[in-house]
Amino acid sequence: MTKKAAKSIFWVGTLMSAGIFIWLTVDFHRQEPAYANTDRITEQVVAGKKVWHKYNCNDCHTILGFGGYYAPDMTKAYYRLGPNNIVAIVMEPEKVYKDSFRKMPKLGLTRREAEDLVEFLHWVADIENRHWPPQDEKYVRAARLREKEPHKLQKVDIVLGACGGCHSFENQGRDIAGDFGDIAKETQYDRDTLVRYILNPTSVNPDSGMPPQNVSPETAELIADFILGLK
Ligand code: HEC
Ligand code: HEC
Repeated sequence: MTKKAAKSIFWVGTLMSAGIFIWLTVDFHRQEPAYANTDRITEQVVAGKKVWHKYNCNDCHTILGFGGYYAPDMTKAYYRLGPNNIVAIVMEPEKVYKDSFRKMPKLGLTRREAEDLVEFLHWVADIENRHWPPQDEKYVRAARLREKEPHKLQKVDIVLGACGGCHSFENQGRDIAGDFGDIAKETQYDRDTLVRYILNPTSVNPDSGMPPQNVSPETAELIADFILGLK
């Protein structure tokens, strides 16, 4: 190769790469507001992100691909668990996880911090990231349809979408608080009591470690029928 040819390859290659890089940068900033809902980044979302950093949640959890890969992925946690469960888990993990072999430490968050964190996780969960992580997609779908168009969901999707963050059924969901097959066999609750338990566990059992569930009374009834139907 002549010196001139080598120089042209260098310049054409460099300029083309620089052009592609600049175009990608401009395109990223053009598309970012739509993909990341930047208009929804409120002060509370920012405060929640600071809580996430203050307590080093990333040491164990992963969010948007970054983090420890030790504890559950938090990208879609908002839909997998719902606000009440997240607040209860971060404030009182020793109660919610008392029967789990893994333990999340009690980090001493205030209620305000936990609520800010929920807003942050809600915003993160709505970032258009091509359905990552894939194992949570069923929870996202179920959470979105549950209260709006429940007729589109199978009953089992409704139950697992609402409760699968802590209970399992036929090897789906996470079994940290009991499998619904076993719970159905053992429970002494009638339908009304079970509905009340789902909406406010401590009103039925003052020692219960289960947080009140973010479901409508109608959904709670449907879930209660499902569980009692397994008896
Ligand atoms: C030392 C490691 C560690 C740190 C730090 C930590 N967690 Fe956890 N977290 C865990 C483990 C382990 C679990 C799962 C417990 C289980 O399955 O029994 C968990 C579970 C959770 C869950 C429930 C996830 C699910 O899908 O069930 C939430 C929500 C959560 N953590 C939020 C947080 C937040 C927010 C922070 C920071 C304020 C944090 N964690 C810091 C270890 C940690
Ligand atoms: C954040 C975790 C979590 C979620 C989500 C969750 N539960 Fe629970 N659940 C628990 C824990 C912890 C217990 C054990 C309660 C105790 O301390 O006795 C429990 C126990 C139960 C029991 C047995 C109660 C008894 O006294 O025998 C039923 C029934 C139940 N859950 C139903 C549900 C239903 C239905 C949903 C969804 C709408 C749900 N749970 C969601 C954590 C959870």
